[in-house]
Amino acid sequence: MKFFVDTADVPAIAELNELGMVDGVTTNPSLIKKSGRDILEVTKEICDLVAGPVSAEVVATEADQMIAEGRKLREIAENIAVKVPLTWDGLKACKVLSDEGAMVNVTLCFSANQALLAAKAGATFISPFIGRLDDINLDGMQLIEDIRTVYDNYGFETEILAASIRTANHVAESARIGADVITAPPAVIKALASHPLTDKGLAAFLADIKDAGIKIL
Ligand code: E4P
Repeated sequence: MKFFVDTADVPAIAELNELGMVDGVTTNPSLIKKSGRDILEVTKEICDLVAGPVSAEVVATEADQMIAEGRKLREIAENIAVKVPLTWDGLKACKVLSDEGAMVNVTLCFSANQALLAAKAGATFISPFIGRLDDINLDGMQLIEDIRTVYDNYGFETEILAASIRTANHVAESARIGADVITAPPAVIKALASHPLTDKGLAAFLADIKDAGIKIL
């Protein structure tokens, strides 16, 4: 499973990248706003840092403008994935840009039917939002499972990029179901290392190390 980092915070990406945890990055307008940076500048910096796909989202809502913005974003670096919303215009832009050889990430997906349309429009990635479905008492993980089944039934190659991940459980469940990629904030990725029994076990070992005066160096 590939790990994308869901942020435009360059130092946070760099820290995870050093550990080999970063297969790509996703951004969106809210994350760009949070960074306080210019979209083109910060995206270029991220692309220089990370070898894998870096999703940068269009801001237009009409297909022609989305296509023009997508072409401009692609000039930043070869590893740009143009992110378009799952609207009819977004699907039109997806088809044109993917036919031109662009990687396209279709975002804001909340149903298996939407995912089916994105795959038929040539999307490289489909981004179903787990957390936002859970927020309204729907089952985000069920959507990942449904899209996996639909794509496998017909051999679609669009990668399932499980997004809006808020918990370690979302990551484990996405991996169990067979999502191709997860994208999560740096804090959620770092939290995957935590387990109370690890902390408890280490505390016991440290006490014994102290009592016995065990030294290696
Ligand atoms: C990723 O592509 C999405 O923009 C992101 O995962 C959304 O997450 P949120 O619902 O926590 O804002």
